[in-house]
Amino acid sequence: MAEVIIASDADAAGERAADEIAQLLRTKPDAVLGVATGSTPLTTWRALAARGLDLSRMQGFALDEYVGIEPGHPQSYRTVIDREVVATLGLERGQIHVPDPHGPLQSAADDYERAIVESGGVDLQILGIGSTGHLAFNEPGSSLASLTRVTMLAERTRRDNARFFDSIDDVPAHAITQGIGTILRARRLILLAFGEGKADAVAGAVEGPLTSSLPGSAIQLHPRVTVIVDEAAASRLARADYYRAAHENRPY
Ligand code: PGA
Repeated sequence: MAEVIIASDADAAGERAADEIAQLLRTKPDAVLGVATGSTPLTTWRALAARGLDLSRMQGFALDEYVGIEPGHPQSYRTVIDREVVATLGLERGQIHVPDPHGPLQSAADDYERAIVESGGVDLQILGIGSTGHLAFNEPGSSLASLTRVTMLAERTRRDNARFFDSIDDVPAHAITQGIGTILRARRLILLAFGEGKADAVAGAVEGPLTSSLPGSAIQLHPRVTVIVDEAAASRLARADYYRAAHENRPY
């Protein structure tokens, strides 16, 4: 079962995730980190930056990138990664790879999948989860064995992401995304989620049946998962008291 940590807030959760990344990088300075975009991991990047570690040998792979967005658009994930991860952590831009949506798409997806394998594979993957239950842009119905490919965003995801654009009409409809099978190959997963709007997705991912209707439930197939949530995102977990007891190492 996933280890579930119910943190007091997003800052505390970010500190906890940064602890895990820092520990990995101390033992393996050339580790490969799986990097997520969105609002959720921002406290993690800030907390990690504050550790002052030498990050010059690590590399990272982003989960996904919009298709049909012009290069340099402030909301392209390449730009978001440059702003939120590369600049925050003081990295070279080339240390973090992002799928290239500006050429032939399927060969870009295949190249990306291959590059992850050739890097030695992701040591630690940071994940958010969508209100649809998506992991990266693997929306409900995605094969649990899927690899990097072009996918179509769910309407709810486009509505959720409209806050970053002028209107929902500007949110791209498609993306290149790592597949669920790609994500499951990472040696370790940390899934972060905050706020009431994620509570159903978190409960489904952690406690619901394993189903492609809720791609987040695929974490149940992985042997080494830590789920770090705030109280609001934990509010629909039936076994919250059990997770708290397990985390505090006291009987339940
Ligand atoms: P968010 O997105 O971090 O912006 O909530 C997470 C996701 O859609 O996977």
